[in-house]
Formats: sequence, C-alpha cells, structure tokens
Amino acid sequence: MFYLIIFLGVEIFSIALYRAFLPNFWGSVLLVIFVSSLGGLIATLFVTYFGDFLRSVQKNNNKMLRLENLSHPLLLKLSKNAPGTYSHSLTVAELAIFAGKKINIDTSYLRLGGYYHDIGKLHNPNMFLENKMKPLKLMDKKELVETAKAIIAHVPEGVKLAKEYELPGEIIEVICQHHGNAGIDSLKTELDKMDVRLEYPGPKPLSKETAVIMLADTIDARIRGAKFQNEESLAKTINAEIDRKINSEQLNLSGLKQKDIDTLRQAYLEKIQSLYHNRKFYKS
Ligand SMILES: [Fe+2]
Ligand SMILES: [Fe+2]
Repeated sequence: MFYLIIFLGVEIFSIALYRAFLPNFWGSVLLVIFVSSLGGLIATLFVTYFGDFLRSVQKNNNKMLRLENLSHPLLLKLSKNAPGTYSHSLTVAELAIFAGKKINIDTSYLRLGGYYHDIGKLHNPNMFLENKMKPLKLMDKKELVETAKAIIAHVPEGVKLAKEYELPGEIIEVICQHHGNAGIDSLKTELDKMDVRLEYPGPKPLSKETAVIMLADTIDARIRGAKFQNEESLAKTINAEIDRKINSEQLNLSGLKQKDIDTLRQAYLEKIQSLYHNRKFYKS
C-alpha cells in the first residue's frame, strides 16, 4: 500500500509539471517519468491485488507436483504395506490416462485418481486379493459378511486418510465414486449363494474422470486375476467389464456418451495389450 501511495503521488506530480512546462524539453522528460512510473503503478497494483491469487496458484501447483511424485508418504506406505495394491494403482493411473486422453479429459486428475483411489486398503491390506498369497478360503455366512464389510470399508477409510493427509477434494471424489454403489465383485458369487446383499456406499461416478477410473480399476482387477489370455479373450474381458458397469447403471450420471464409451473400449484394449504383452499370463 505504501508503494501504491508513492506511485500515485509521482503520477499526479508528473502530470501537473507536464501540463505546466509543455511542450519544452522538461515536458518530454516528465512524460518519460510519467510513462515509466505508470508501468510501476500497474505492476504494483497487479502484485497488490493479484499477489494472493498468484501465490495460491503457485501453492496449488506445488501441491499437485508433490502428489504426483511417487515418493509421497502415502504412496510409499502403499508400496511397502500393500505392494499388490500399489502396482494395481499405478496401472489404473496408466490405463485411465491413456483412455482419458482419447476423450480429451483432465489427465492430471486421472493420474492422481489412479494413484490414490485405493489408499483405504492400507487399513487392512491383507483383506484384498492383490495382496494375498493364498486364494480365498471357504467361509460361513458370518465370516463372509465380516469380510465383505471389511472390503467395503476401504472406501470410508480412504476418505479418512485423504482428509488426514489433506489430499484435494477431487481425489476424495474418486475414492468415494470408484466403486459407485455396486456390490463386491470379488465376493459376488459367494454373497449371492448365501443371499447376502451388501453394496458400496457410492455415489456412482459423477464425472467422466471418475467413470474412466472406475472402468480402469475394474478392468485391471479382472485381468490381473485372470489366467492365460489371448488378444481375443482380453477384448472379451474388457467389453464384459464395461457392459457390467453400464448394465448396473453405474455410468449413467457420469456424462459419458455412447461415442466416448466406444472410444474407451478400444483405448483400454490397446493399453492393456501393451502393458501385459510378454507377461506370463498373456500369450499372443
Ligand atoms: Fe477400490
Ligand atoms: Fe482399485
């Protein structure tokens, strides 16, 4: 504010002198002083009134860069305590970014969404197939319900952790929406057999970005768990996962159009082929 007053004083003084001496030599000198101090005035006004805004943009950019860095404490914890989930999260990010680019959506949002969508699994990593050495054992109804509830809990636990680490609201949206309000895929058969109905709390994906992550998530989980797959069966699996989400109405609030979904089908297949090519369970 002090500089602003000084500049205003110089401006008024320069104009007064310029008017008094115009058009002699000193008039030209004053004109130069006037123009240069006007530049200073504009810069001062800009810094005074937009400084906070610029600082907050800079701070936000730094925060995003820190979150994208794989040495973020939450990602380090995930890689140490839930290595299967960590690997799955990186793949979901890669898949979502590749597919999202094809329909022109925000790829930095997709990257962060992929990295952090399952952080809630840190609460109980061994509950999840990707971190287990052994397959699921047979369970009675009580055990099954407890297991299902513990799996569903990775969503609210993720939200809790995201708030604790001050992750942005967009990441919290991904955590809440990546399973929508559907049932648990990995326990579906057992839950149906015992007539138990348990679902994620939702909401369903409310943006194209969260829907693209939901699809990348389910596709990676399904293909990760599959045995040997050839190109044809990969395409079948991907299309079946997408159809399952469409038929259970998980995508109907996302804003994805039929044209986007057709583009996404092709994009996921292309990326999965390149990611899993030469891996033990993919034979071309
Ligand atoms: Fe999840
Ligand atoms: Fe996931």
